[in-house]
Amino acid sequence: MHYSLPTAAASEEDLTGRYVSAVRRAAKRDFPVAEIRRFLEPGPIVLVSSAWKGERNVMTMGWHMMLEFTPALVACCISDRDHSFEMVRQSRECVINIPTVELVHKVIEIGNVTGDHMDKFRAFELTSASASLVKAPLIAECYANFECRLKDDRLVSEYGLFIWEVVHAYVADIKDPQTLHYRGDGEFMIAGHSIDLHKEVSGKNM
Ligand SMILES: Cc1cc2nc3c(=O)[nH]c(=O)nc-3n(C[C@H](O)[C@H](O)[C@H](O)COP(=O)(O)O)c2cc1C
Repeated sequence: MHYSLPTAAASEEDLTGRYVSAVRRAAKRDFPVAEIRRFLEPGPIVLVSSAWKGERNVMTMGWHMMLEFTPALVACCISDRDHSFEMVRQSRECVINIPTVELVHKVIEIGNVTGDHMDKFRAFELTSASASLVKAPLIAECYANFECRLKDDRLVSEYGLFIWEVVHAYVADIKDPQTLHYRGDGEFMIAGHSIDLHKEVSGKNM
């Protein structure tokens, strides 16, 4: 099934701009609901590092979301088929590292293999650095590193959903970092361009 709207009125076109107007007029087709994650997976793609019983590991992750400002809570969906699952569940810690486009091939390789029998830090030549408050290592090549402690594990067994509190954060002073945003099927969208509209945004913290 398709639906399309009649051409937008001129005043609306002025308001929304040509692009939005074109999207409005575009014919839209039915889309399989099992695939809608391609639009909602906001990214950025992150690398989750962990440490447990003398072992370290790292996995690629796209399914995460902010839950709260203070304390800074982040929810992450980690499959119980991943080696990282038990490592973060047992250690109750991790670091969320944010890579940029320069690391895209490593990001994919890290997400293609399990760390069950390999040290992915060594295999993919990642530089580990000591975190301040957790045992999981920081990845020095990533432009931001968020140290996390497990805040709530009530949804872990049912959904693999870990709710983390970010207890310490490091961010490099880089303008418009080109983060990776996954669209499924091997397609990555690359960020990098910002527009400053703070005068239009009302409300604190928005
Ligand atoms: C772009 C991309 C995004 C991914 N997102 C997730 C995710 O959100 N959750 C998850 O459990 N696995 C995700 N994966 C898969 C894991 O990274 C993959 O299973 C990895 O091998 C797990 O490593 P581990 O077994 O060493 O923990 C993703 C992989 C890629 C390439």
